[in-house]
Amino acid sequence: MTQDESKRKAAEAALPYIKDVSILGVGTGSTVNHFIDCLADFNLTKDIQGAVSSSIATTERLKKIGIPVMELSESGNLDVYVDGADEVNPLKQLIKGGGGALTREKIIAGASKQFVCIVDESKVVKVLGSFPLPIEVIPMARSYVAREVVKLGGQPVWRENYITDNGCEIIDVHNMEIAEPLALERLINNLAGVVSVGIFGLRPADVVLIAKESGVETM
Ligand code: A5P
Repeated sequence: MTQDESKRKAAEAALPYIKDVSILGVGTGSTVNHFIDCLADFNLTKDIQGAVSSSIATTERLKKIGIPVMELSESGNLDVYVDGADEVNPLKQLIKGGGGALTREKIIAGASKQFVCIVDESKVVKVLGSFPLPIEVIPMARSYVAREVVKLGGQPVWRENYITDNGCEIIDVHNMEIAEPLALERLINNLAGVVSVGIFGLRPADVVLIAKESGVETM
């Protein structure tokens, strides 16, 4: 099975979780794109009243298959949020933001009763941090936050020529073993100028669907 086929398998496995859900939270990335394709392929769009989207890219894709996109302030809290991840540890804590949508993803995850995370098995790790940790920052704070991150032992790299959907910038932190995700998430959240950090520890996934050669495993 190719990685893309695995992503599709994980996406299909999320469909039972959205049964009877009229307004859905939808994340961002290639695995979620498969999930959106599944909604169309399995003719589920007619059952979905609307979706809250975590990015412009996802919004466009949802609209293309006829799902109305609404603001979170209109929808209120959501029953289910479906999204991918860049890394998942055994506590269902995640690194997210490889696609740059971490802040909106965090908001929707926080506002949802159930966060269903869909991944292929390459995303599963024991300790978070091999994947560079994204931090969204107010542009003025970029160098300051980068210097603080160096003090924490990481190697910050500015995602050059990249502006988030919120008009901010991203620093990707390399070579940081995240032994204590909650403590590090709090610490980075508290740096002035940080919009959000891609550690999803305070709000981890509730269910992780991992596509493997042998089938989809539920964590
Ligand atoms: C988007 O900002 C990310 O959080 C994605 O959810 C994550 O990068 C997973 O993306 P893929 O499904 O493309 O691997």
